[in-house]
Amino acid sequence: MINKMGLENDIQYVLLTEEQIKAKVKELGEAISRDYAGKNPLLVCILRGAVPFFADLCKQITDYMEMDFMAVSSYEDGMTSHGIVRIKKDMDKSIEGRHVIIVEDIMDSGNTLNHLTRLLGTRNPASLKIACLLDKPERRTCEITPDYFGFIVPDEFVVGYGLDYADAYRNLPYIGVLKPEVYTDVK
Ligand code: IMP
Ligand code: MG
Repeated sequence: MINKMGLENDIQYVLLTEEQIKAKVKELGEAISRDYAGKNPLLVCILRGAVPFFADLCKQITDYMEMDFMAVSSYEDGMTSHGIVRIKKDMDKSIEGRHVIIVEDIMDSGNTLNHLTRLLGTRNPASLKIACLLDKPERRTCEITPDYFGFIVPDEFVVGYGLDYADAYRNLPYIGVLKPEVYTDVK
């Protein structure tokens, strides 16, 4: 347990409400439905942070599509990138000749998605795009931008709707900024 006072008490303020997220995910689903009509895209969920976004996004896609899952690690239990991306679980399906959309929670330094797109690019997909709910362009250290994104967020550590700090807060239905004492306190 991070804070015995409870989950909501650790949040300094709500950055994006449940309603704002819902409306944006619907828009993204409509755009993907339009762009991929008749292409049966394969949406790849990056575990675990993208799970709520992925589930909601897929439900807004109005044409045939398929799902697959990958787990990678770049941040272990903390808040800074190690610069090393390790595949912990690979996808089950072949992506050769498929229209692939990688679905991620947030693009921060861009390191994770930069590595991942390079790797998946070698598997000969028909196309490869990235959908991220959040984008923190100020923090980018490599040349990469999401093809679809929901919101640009400031350079603050955000949690909720899949995003975690030490694996907590993923179940919050909104996205908020953590109180600094939550991650500076000795637990
Ligand atoms: P990148 O490789 O630096 O772009 O980092 C991507 C990963 O870092 C994301 O998939 C998140 O797991 C994590 N991350 C980056 N910023 C945040 C944040 O503000 N809150 C929670 N996780 C974050
Ligand atoms: Mg993550």
